[in-house]
Amino acid sequence: MHTLIAANWKMHMTRSQASSTVQELLQKLEGSIPANREILILPPFTSLETVSGAISGKNGFSLGAQDFYPAEEGAYTGEVSPEMLLDLGCGYALAGHSERRHFFGESDDLVGEKLAYGLEKGLHMILCIGETLTERNQGRVREVLTRQLHSALDSERVRSALRSGLSLAYEPVWAIGTGEVARPEDIEEAHALVREELRTLLPQSADRTAILYGGSVKPDNTSQILGIDNVNGVLVGGASLKADSFSAIALG
Ligand code: PGA
Repeated sequence: MHTLIAANWKMHMTRSQASSTVQELLQKLEGSIPANREILILPPFTSLETVSGAISGKNGFSLGAQDFYPAEEGAYTGEVSPEMLLDLGCGYALAGHSERRHFFGESDDLVGEKLAYGLEKGLHMILCIGETLTERNQGRVREVLTRQLHSALDSERVRSALRSGLSLAYEPVWAIGTGEVARPEDIEEAHALVREELRTLLPQSADRTAILYGGSVKPDNTSQILGIDNVNGVLVGGASLKADSFSAIALG
C-alpha cells in the first residue's frame, strides 16, 4: 500500500502565499519523493486553482478539497459542489474533519451523506474520525470510533461507489493543533481497531484502505508515527504551512 502525506492548509494562505509555498515545495521535493508516496495538498477553496496549476503534471503530487456540499447545484449560498472541485483538478476531499464536526456542527448523518456523495461523484474520500479528550478519559474511544465508522460506511451507496477510493484518518481531537501527539501505543490501538471495523464493514477493500494519523504531526515525530502498524500516512495541519517542515515530513 502506498503512503499518503497530506497537507491540510485549513483557512490559511492567500493565492500568492499558496503559490510561493507550493513552488518551494516542488523545489524541495520534485524528483525525491519515493515511488510509493503521494503528496496531497488540501488548500482553501480560493487557492485550489493556483495549486492545481502549479502541480499539474508533477509526479507524486495530488490536489484535494477540505470540504464540499453534497448536491449537484442549486440555492446553497456559500457552498461548492464536487463537480466544481473536479473541474479544478481535485481528486480528493475530506469528510468529517473534527473542525467541521465541532465548530460547524456537522452531524454523523451529514458526514455520511458527504462521504457517499463524494464517492459517487468520483472523488477519493478521506473520512476523518476521532474522539475528544473527555471521551478518551471516559474510556469511550472504541465506542466513538465504531459509531463514526458505522454511520458513514455501513451503506450500500458507499459499498457500490468504493472504486473512487477511500482512506481513513484517525485524528484524536485533543491532539489537533495542540502540540500534543497521541502515544505510539494509543495510535497503534486506535488504528488496529479501525482496521478491524473496516474488515467487518468493507471486507473486500479493508486491507487496501489507507489509515492516516493526524494530530500535531511534525518533522521530528513523522518517521516514528509512520513506523506504527496500520499507519499508512499522515494528515498534517500546522506543520504543513511551511515548505521546510512539510517537505521534511514528506521525506520522513
Ligand atoms: P495539526 O492538524 O497537524 O495542526 O494538529 C491536523 C489536522 O487537523 O488535520
